[in-house]
Amino acid sequence: MDMTPQRWINTNAYLREVFGAQDDVLESLMPEAIKAGIPAIAVSADVGRLLNILVRMATTRPGATRRVVELGTLAGYSGIWLARALPHNGKLLTVEPEARHADFAQRMFADAGVADRIEIRRTTGIKALTQLSRELGPESLDVVFLDAIKTEYPEYFRLAKPLIGRGGLLLADNVLGSNFWIDDAPGSSETGDAVDRFNRLVAADPDFDTVAVPAREGVMIARRK
Ligand code: DHB
Ligand code: MG
Repeated sequence: MDMTPQRWINTNAYLREVFGAQDDVLESLMPEAIKAGIPAIAVSADVGRLLNILVRMATTRPGATRRVVELGTLAGYSGIWLARALPHNGKLLTVEPEARHADFAQRMFADAGVADRIEIRRTTGIKALTQLSRELGPESLDVVFLDAIKTEYPEYFRLAKPLIGRGGLLLADNVLGSNFWIDDAPGSSETGDAVDRFNRLVAADPDFDTVAVPAREGVMIARRK
């Protein structure tokens, strides 16, 4: 079957229609965020549901720490999907250096009734992972979801890997595109080159089983063995 541009558009519309149901809090969140001047770059509802299912699986496995980390809170849309998947006593640490985004997300977490399960860390992804390794130590996290600075993905992986427990997950958004697409010529985009390096680094790591699915702009799912 040839994947024509129209077929790709239709496929994404179908995925949103059939698998992208969401409640009113999530439905109105990004339109409100855009009015507040926050960029329209959140994950789609079908990607949110994928994250939710994966977090449920990882945080209920034997030996789970029930701790999930997100780099790149933005307006809180994906954070709500992640937090709603947490079991009793579960915790989401979400990392956002932009005060305006963190303030908006904090309000959305309260509206969604998940504020008690979420801590926003107002710092960069690299600083947050460095702090967490001191604070919590190795194998202390069930899931790390990367969605912050794409050129820093290889460094996030280096810092996050020891923090992920056995059977835990490394997830990443935009592994096929954002302001680039993965079939761009090498050297044409710094972001694209860094994401390609990250994809190949994780795929080649014998401590992980890794795949990427072409949902929206590509989501990596890597399971720590
Ligand atoms: C951008 C960032 C994202 O996380 C995303 O999913 C899409 C676009 C961006 O910075 O342009
Ligand atoms: Mg993204």
